[in-house]
Amino acid sequence: VLKVRILLMGFGNVGRGFCRLLAEKSDYIERHWRLEPRIVGICTRTRGIAYDPSGIDLDRVLSAKDNIESLGNPGSPRFPTQEDVVAGGDYDVLAECTVTSTDGRGPALEYMKEALSRGKSVITTNKGPIAFFYKNLHELACRHRAGLLFEGTVMAGTPVFSTSVNGLAGSRISRFEGVLNGTCNYMLGLMQSGADYDKALEQAQKQGFAEADPAMDVEGMDTALKAMILSQVLMGTDVPRPEDISIQGISHVDPEVLLDAKDNNEQVRLVARGEKVGEKCRISVKPTPLAADHPLYNLPGAVNGLVLSTDTLGPVCLTGAGAGSKATGFALLHDLLSLYDSRERCRKGM
Ligand code: HSE
Repeated sequence: VLKVRILLMGFGNVGRGFCRLLAEKSDYIERHWRLEPRIVGICTRTRGIAYDPSGIDLDRVLSAKDNIESLGNPGSPRFPTQEDVVAGGDYDVLAECTVTSTDGRGPALEYMKEALSRGKSVITTNKGPIAFFYKNLHELACRHRAGLLFEGTVMAGTPVFSTSVNGLAGSRISRFEGVLNGTCNYMLGLMQSGADYDKALEQAQKQGFAEADPAMDVEGMDTALKAMILSQVLMGTDVPRPEDISIQGISHVDPEVLLDAKDNNEQVRLVARGEKVGEKCRISVKPTPLAADHPLYNLPGAVNGLVLSTDTLGPVCLTGAGAGSKATGFALLHDLLSLYDSRERCRKGM
């Protein structure tokens, strides 16, 4: 059984969801994957840093109410800042799920660059750095022979990238259409049944779907970042420039429009469209009424959907959970297991 030491950056909904799954599934992971993942460090924004090279007790950390520093090993090296842990800690994989920034810059990007430069693999749910710096991070990962996986950046743990990159290898994707934000989809569903905007947002926050700053969701930026990632990773485009992207969120949707749509048997959803034009991608994000025969019509709650236009199969449609602690925490588990694919390890006799 191979021990994998994980440094976890961020202990919000996603980080906790990941830890819960690791605790719940440790026997299964050991039996089926011959892996023993250990969280050796947890860096939080407001509750301190816990570090223990022999592994932190996940049940204790998940039930802790306040500062988590005391859950580390007092005999282990002290790291005053998060940067110090990333640069000096002893770990194999950096799991990055701190709050995202709208331009991709900031501490998360620096943590990823530092870890990759040290040859450590990175798994992340953080959209900004991948949306703006995918190529740079990918090159850095290749140069240092490290892995870089980010399944949870789009559609939470619903496997967009592993399905598309592996399953559609040899196909060309020229266009996509998606409902990519769980919060907005959940809110529009409630509003179309008569709930008012503020109540719907409050509910989405309670369910753990919304970003730390929910303006990211309702103003459409979260969806735009996801579309930027899809366009680069699935269609190989350059980083979309601001003039190639038009964004309209749901904060100004007229309730009358929602009720009219309902009368016409339509569903209003926040739809992202991306189209490859040469090396560029044109992206639009806007509330759109969809007829009952549209593949993205039937997406209840925070479920997301994506239709890819391929040159081999025609449209390929994926639907699944798009937000939430467990669904997004699962993306990190999926990425972790993909890094240590058991068949590969068997082949190498590990
Ligand atoms: N706030 C995001 C959403 C979380 O609602 O879709 C998942 O990316």
